Amino acid sequence: MSSVTGSMSESMAGSADMHRAPDAHALMRFAMMRAQDVEDVIAVEQDAYPFPWTRGNFLDSLASRYDAWVLRDPDGRLAGYFLLMHAVDEAHLLNITVRPDVQGKGLGRLLLDKVIDLARGADMRSVLLEVRPSNTHALAVYQHCGFMQIGLRKNYYPAGGTAREDAIVMRLMLDHHGD
Ligand SMILES: CC(C)(COP(=O)(O)OP(=O)(O)OC[C@H]1O[C@@H](n2cnc3c(N)ncnc32)[C@H](O)[C@@H]1OP(=O)(O)O)[C@@H](O)C(=O)NCCC(=O)NCCS
Repeated sequence: MSSVTGSMSESMAGSADMHRAPDAHALMRFAMMRAQDVEDVIAVEQDAYPFPWTRGNFLDSLASRYDAWVLRDPDGRLAGYFLLMHAVDEAHLLNITVRPDVQGKGLGRLLLDKVIDLARGADMRSVLLEVRPSNTHALAVYQHCGFMQIGLRKNYYPAGGTAREDAIVMRLMLDHHGD
């Protein structure tokens, strides 16, 4: 469930998140994902993945009140988004995506910093995610950001026709408040 209240529904990408981000990112804005964002989200999703989530997947996730956020540039153009599910003491990162033409410029880190802030704020002890072994860029980013492989889910993802691809399960342990 989302831990975020309406008063926190929009924020500059600055403050605590910005210690790592270059100045060019200071005007980016986070906002909670709403149904009216889904058309933009789908357009980026379809560019970013060979097997994209559907509109229904996103709408169902919003209906389930997952912690879903979009990041927009100063012109309002969607740069990225993520969906986070809090379960007991573990935050499960269901989707994190940067628009393909702006990947590799630090926006993924900006999104991950926000994920970590939200998970800490909801008293989660860790962030869990799945990633395809073939997604070498995402794997490198997650490892660089401190995620460790903790398992493998066999035949987890569709891979075209009847083929399936495993998922690498990764976890980032979060520090306790005040550590
Ligand atoms: C995965 C994804 C979200 C990462 O976002 P990004 O904008 O490309 O990543 P960033 O440029 O912010 O890089 C994040 C960090 O990883 C580092 N990094 C990037 N590529 C790296 C590599 N090959 N090896 C090691 N570190 C790397 C960056 O230096 C940065 O660390 P820093 O902040 O300490 O400098 C993005 O590439 C994406 O949307 N990919 C397509 C969709 C996808 O695969 N999503 C994940 C599904 S599991």
